[in-house]
Amino acid sequence: MNVLGIETSCDETACAVVADGRRIRSNVIASQMAEHARYGGVVPEVASRRHVEQINVVLKRALDDAGIGFDGIGLVAVTNRPGLLGALLVGVSAAKALALALDVPLVGVHHIEAHLYANFISEGASSPPDFPAVALVVSGGHTDLFHVRGHGDYVLLGRTRDDAAGEAFDKCARLMGLAYPGGPAIEQAAREGDPAAVPLPRAWLPGTHEFSFSGLKTAVRRLAQGETPPPTADLAASFQEAVVDVLVGKTLAAARAVGAPRVFLAGGVAANGRLRARMQAACDEAGLPLFYPPPILCTDNAAMIAATGYFHWQAGHVDGLDLDTIASEPLAAGPAASS
Ligand SMILES: Nc1ncnc2c1ncn2[C@@H]1O[C@H](COP(=O)(O)OP(=O)(O)OP(=O)(O)O)[C@@H](O)[C@H]1O
Ligand SMILES: [Mg+2]
Repeated sequence: MNVLGIETSCDETACAVVADGRRIRSNVIASQMAEHARYGGVVPEVASRRHVEQINVVLKRALDDAGIGFDGIGLVAVTNRPGLLGALLVGVSAAKALALALDVPLVGVHHIEAHLYANFISEGASSPPDFPAVALVVSGGHTDLFHVRGHGDYVLLGRTRDDAAGEAFDKCARLMGLAYPGGPAIEQAAREGDPAAVPLPRAWLPGTHEFSFSGLKTAVRRLAQGETPPPTADLAASFQEAVVDVLVGKTLAAARAVGAPRVFLAGGVAANGRLRARMQAACDEAGLPLFYPPPILCTDNAAMIAATGYFHWQAGHVDGLDLDTIASEPLAAGPAASS
């Protein structure tokens, strides 16, 4: 069955057609990044307006690329939470109109769950990963560690107490005079730098599975705005190493703590080459298989929305035309609440 996925929660207008939750037939992403770059971050009102302009164009291209018409769609899956409300409304309104007109089921999808499900889209792999797993979701708005026990069965082990990892990349890139979005800019600058050149703090928060990046950001600010700032490449490489050290160390500690036999990595920061390489090395040493999506499926896309919607539909969950948009909703509760 062809699932149409629609994603408009932030600054990407995206539509994709995914067959049976795993095979991508089309994956179209119209990014507004260049437009928001001059403000150093996403401007919600601008985002909503661009989604309105783009949604029909992106939808048509997704159908054309997949070689199907409207009558080829069997299910519509749309991000309805969490995200910018005005932005979410554009995708949800389009999804409702399509579901009603085509008389096909509608499924509302949690954006963070979809980042996880990017790992289930086949890219040459013959079978999807198994459960249970420990999953690190590192994106622009989230740094969460989950114990994933099955489809839709998550326990939040820990999250960031302040900035998300992607947010730290974006803010620190700005302090270093690098472009927005900061993640790719820092990764690029770091290639010429020495990761051991600048001593920077790591917040280990022992005894917890939580994260904190605000102290690191303050240290970068002091150095970047000090009298003799270090070379940008060294500062970028040292910052990236500090973030990666903590993400890898705490993910492996969480996997040990819950006895998870595999690790999933997801979200925009999971596109980072240094994080992928260091996490792979650590998982190899611990004997844990590691799963991460190709970079294009780490950052926001609609293929992951379609994949998630398909699994919910298979489990018998569908939504009505009263599907609401929700600005903020955690994917899962912590261990105390779930037991
Ligand atoms: N190569 C990279 N290295 C590090 N960070 C990266 C890289 N590529 C993208 N990022 C970061 O990923 C973030 C965007 O990821 P994503 O699209 O998943 O976030 P979002 O959708 O804005 O947030 P959320 O998913 O939490 O709602 C940005 O903060 C960006 O800087
Ligand atoms: Mg995202």
